[in-house]
Amino acid sequence: MAESTLNPEKLPAHVAIIMDGNGRWAKKKGRPRSFGHKAGVEALREIIKMSDELGIKALTVYAFSTENWKRSAEEVGALMGLLLEYFRRELEELNRKNVRICILGDIDGMPKGTEKQKAALHQAIEKTQTNTGLILNIAINYGGQQEIVRAAQSLARKAAQGLIRPEEITTESMEAEMYTAGEPKVDLIIRTSGELRLSNFLLWQCAYAEFYITDTLWPDFDRKQYALALEAYAGRNRRFGGV
Ligand code: IPE
Ligand code: IPE
Ligand code: MG
Repeated sequence: MAESTLNPEKLPAHVAIIMDGNGRWAKKKGRPRSFGHKAGVEALREIIKMSDELGIKALTVYAFSTENWKRSAEEVGALMGLLLEYFRRELEELNRKNVRICILGDIDGMPKGTEKQKAALHQAIEKTQTNTGLILNIAINYGGQQEIVRAAQSLARKAAQGLIRPEEITTESMEAEMYTAGEPKVDLIIRTSGELRLSNFLLWQCAYAEFYITDTLWPDFDRKQYALALEAYAGRNRRFGGV
């Protein structure tokens, strides 16, 4: 499968990726988990580049879940370190490529000791907010259930203020409260490392997304692997409840 044979008309507008398997990848090599996360960042760079080249409109990547804080302080520290390093290294170039960075998740709810990360995230959003190219959504301190609760709270607040009636709450008004408001719907969700679960990722947005699960561990997910996923997507028959 070569990238050049992908049919541009059958590409997804929005791809979401659960980048999983960094720890197992490192373990297989007898290295610490952080080594896997470092390699995972390199894989991500290439997938962003390819998404941009292909003209995909939005790419959402799961970088850190609300549950990932359960990991050891050492691992969380390594991940937070990589996050900072990533923006220091990549922000200029992403901006030059006209990429708009959005953060899905509760930035301000991140724990003490992550002030630099919060500042870097806000800076990335602000710097790229008027860009018109690839939308790069990075999910950090993100939970799909929390996102839905947040939407419900916002609508409840509006109802309590008398701005809307409860009957006026629709799938569209909920959609407008999601972090991904205004973006194309998620067409394809990819999970690496073979796990068959969503792990609290994009619960609202994945209503009609196509799933692609591969045993490949995230650091090994390269352009060829991505092309295979896109080719599989191109062959799907999406019915959306019709026939
Ligand atoms: C995904 O890889 C990266 C993050 C969750 C941040 P993991 O760290 O979950 O790797 P495995 O699943 O333990 O192999
Ligand atoms: C999901 O992977 C989160 C990210 C990839 C950031 P996890 O490794 O945290 O998911 P579980 O624990 O296997 O469900
Ligand atoms: Mg994992």
